[in-house]
Amino acid sequence: MKDQQTQTATIDSLGQWKRTHDCGTLRQNNADQEVILMGWVNRRRDLGNLIFIDLRDREGITQVVFDPQVNATAHERAHILRNEWVLAVKGTVVSRLEGQENRDLSTGQIEIRAEEVKILNRTETPPFQVDGAVDASENLRLKYRYLELRRPQIFENFRKRHAIASCIRDFLNERGFIEVETPVLTKSTPEGARDYLVPSRTNSGMFYALPQSPQLFKQLLMMSGFDRYYQMVRCFRDEDLRADRQPEFTQVDLEMAFVDEKDVMDVFENMMGELFTRIMDRKIPSPIPHLTYQDAMDRFGNDRPDLRFDMELKNITDIAEKSDFKVFKGVVAAGGVVKAICVKNAAAAYSRKGLDEISQIATANGAKGLAWIKIAEDKWQSPVAKFFDDGLKLSLNGRLDASPGDLILMVADQPAIANAALSALRLEMARREGLIKEGEYAFVWVTDFPLLEYDDTDDRFMAVHHPFTAPMEEDLALLLEHPEKARARAYDLVLNGTEIGGGSIRIHNAATQEMVFEALGITPEEARSKFGFLIDALKHGAPPHGGMALGFDRLVAIMAGVNSIREIIAFPKTTSGTCPLTEAPSPVDPEQLKELGLSIIPPVPG
Ligand code: AMO
Ligand code: AMP
Repeated sequence: MKDQQTQTATIDSLGQWKRTHDCGTLRQNNADQEVILMGWVNRRRDLGNLIFIDLRDREGITQVVFDPQVNATAHERAHILRNEWVLAVKGTVVSRLEGQENRDLSTGQIEIRAEEVKILNRTETPPFQVDGAVDASENLRLKYRYLELRRPQIFENFRKRHAIASCIRDFLNERGFIEVETPVLTKSTPEGARDYLVPSRTNSGMFYALPQSPQLFKQLLMMSGFDRYYQMVRCFRDEDLRADRQPEFTQVDLEMAFVDEKDVMDVFENMMGELFTRIMDRKIPSPIPHLTYQDAMDRFGNDRPDLRFDMELKNITDIAEKSDFKVFKGVVAAGGVVKAICVKNAAAAYSRKGLDEISQIATANGAKGLAWIKIAEDKWQSPVAKFFDDGLKLSLNGRLDASPGDLILMVADQPAIANAALSALRLEMARREGLIKEGEYAFVWVTDFPLLEYDDTDDRFMAVHHPFTAPMEEDLALLLEHPEKARARAYDLVLNGTEIGGGSIRIHNAATQEMVFEALGITPEEARSKFGFLIDALKHGAPPHGGMALGFDRLVAIMAGVNSIREIIAFPKTTSGTCPLTEAPSPVDPEQLKELGLSIIPPVPG
């Protein structure tokens, strides 16, 4: 209590003081000016006679010096200042003496000679140093996220996020797109994740779903003749979280009427060009290269290839099946494949132990093992060397373009597993070998996706993009006979191995939409109850239309050079979907549950 009283007693009011500058702008040419700065104590250095305060705000740090010769009262007060206290300082700008400049600070050529100081607020001992290494646990950092956000380098990420958003808005506004808000309390919009549900009080037992995307609303707007729509919109998906996934995230969502794939892709391609020029001062290669889904899978093992480096996957099934290695022969006989990558000049760096370590990456991705070859001048060093005759060795070296010193990694399995294991190894080996250059941006469009894929767990076909994506016209006839063969009019934009956006041309007639629902195993009754409003709208004059959504957080993370989208979201959730700051999610009052007609079934222990 006493402590609190002394605290409030010594807190000053702002009074008539007005800030004249921020903490990042004063330079030598401001010398002799009388200024007022406000901010937080970043650090205090007490040299007895002189006391130095680094005053910080979002723009930077300015050194303030308290000298008893200048003002004894101010100097006296400076003794009690602590990190993160909030101050207002009145003083004069002086040039620092030669040799005393601080080159690490933009304001390092000057300091403020303090004449008066106001303590605007004090603080409890911070749970971690705002100025310093990021050494606290993620939970603690998120609990005190507002403190972490005080770090100027972190604030820079948000300034960048804002600049990117403004640039995108300008770009779209100039091209006749209008921003329209769509409902957040709505009905399930399937994008492949679970829905977040919101119970309705006024309609007992009923639920809204938070949108996984505004997909159906933006299609309806095209049917309304809005022609070109966009929205910077929050989407909600209940799925397993990782570095590039949050339960709520932002899309740059867009839809256009009377267009084909190229029209939509051109908009995003030009947008990326403008963004990288304006924000990063870089030209991106134009046009952005295209890869079909099949090529991406064959050559890189996944549909979001990182094209900053080569190390392509090669299919060596035809060579491997001629060897005497039982594992390879068995896999091929069972309809599998053998694929390989060649890591240039890596043979010497990998001992048995190192190779065991990388084998684990393969097995963690489903492979049953990893076969390796170290290429030497005149021979192979490999546990499987004895199974390959000289002719086969030559063919394999040729296929992989292998030279002495290279390391070949091979996986035999069903194509999906061989691809998953080798694409993970391709990335890991590129990282280890330093093949991924900072500051390089490799865009690629992936096209010609399959429309549907078979889901073994659910025992039915699922839409690869979403159920409103149009099949390629020439593949329409395949839809009911060989659904797995029909291709979609869908496209993904990939940057440095991350899917930053995806979209498609949509189905715009009810009959085709019903056919796709049927191929997805959705009964006409289910289709009516879930998507009846869409089918009705398609029957009321729907124009051909298509669009795309950018994962805004992912794009910003890449442009800001950070590893996780959590760093560019002001108040992100942990990987278990919680917010340590607000302690959401949290239990609710039993009264509230009663009102909603809900009761909680306690989880079964274990
Ligand atoms: P899609 O589901 O591909 O398409 O989503 C578009 C983009 O959103 C980003 N994204 C995410 N970002 C962060 N956290 C998540 N959990 C998350 N999930 C997706 C990705 C992705 O490429 N309605 C369609 C678009 C359309 O067809 O126009 C859609 O939502 O970068
Ligand atoms: P084994 O004969 O099963 O001991 O395997 C010999 C080598 O082949 C080991 O290095 C295994 O990791 C590797 N291996 C086993 N199964 C596979 C597979 N499906 N694909 C690639 N290599 C494998």
